[in-house]
Amino acid sequence: MHIIHTVKELQEHLAKAPYKALVPTMGNLHEGHLRLIDQARERSQAHQGITIATIFVNRLQFGPHEDFDRYPRTLEMDCEKLERHGCDLVFAPDELELYPQKQSYTVSPPPELAGILEGHFRPGFFTGVCTVVMKLFSMIQPQCAVFGKKDYQQLKVIKGMVSQFNLPIEIIGLETQRAEDGLALSSRNGYLSVEERLRAIELFQALKSVCADVRQPDAKPQAICSTHTQALIDKGWAVDYLSLCQQEDLSPCTSINAKALVVLVAAKIGKTRLIDNLEIQL
Ligand code: PAF
Repeated sequence: MHIIHTVKELQEHLAKAPYKALVPTMGNLHEGHLRLIDQARERSQAHQGITIATIFVNRLQFGPHEDFDRYPRTLEMDCEKLERHGCDLVFAPDELELYPQKQSYTVSPPPELAGILEGHFRPGFFTGVCTVVMKLFSMIQPQCAVFGKKDYQQLKVIKGMVSQFNLPIEIIGLETQRAEDGLALSSRNGYLSVEERLRAIELFQALKSVCADVRQPDAKPQAICSTHTQALIDKGWAVDYLSLCQQEDLSPCTSINAKALVVLVAAKIGKTRLIDNLEIQL
């Protein structure tokens, strides 16, 4: 496996690759990321191509009071895991390599998709994500890129960007990987104390309860969301949102006529903010 840090080396390595499958990450890899790598590797092997992971903690997508500085940087361990999973190339640039000048050209996704939910609570987040992903796409020119459904809105935003810019890249969304008790795997789970980790499962339990309630006759989406938001607050969570949306465009679900729904949640336990979601097919 090659580990490279510069765009020049990257392009030398990629020059002859017939097919490139990409997994963009911010590192601190867990089983969820490794499933994305497995999927990318299956794709690339089917096309005699290569599997590429990028590791870059992207300052542009962090707000001023977020965890950019303390976000775990674990390059050596990440590379060992990637190698075990058959990744061919890791691109891990430093900030100056990816942003040699202030990044004044950015990609701004539409507010109706990117200004709600995560975008409402983390202004600028999706512009930061789209800008770095667009840069990585243009440096690597992959044929496919794999993202996790855990970041459900991010996956939608990236699919929209790829479609509207006519990028010839297949975007693959993979199911959320969960710990045995159901907690969605996330690099930020590492911030949880032992006691918080035990309680963190309450988030997934809330999603499952919403899912069960939505299936009841005469279900009222807003009332269901309010009830489960309040239940989380009563348990000590600071809830940013718990929303029932249409899968297609993440618009709010106002009545249970639609068939393909998704419930999304973001909430803080102690100082740690977690997100999760569950698709609901009625
Ligand atoms: O999902 C992530 O880890 C990041 O948002 C991404 C897609 C690697 C962009 O920095």
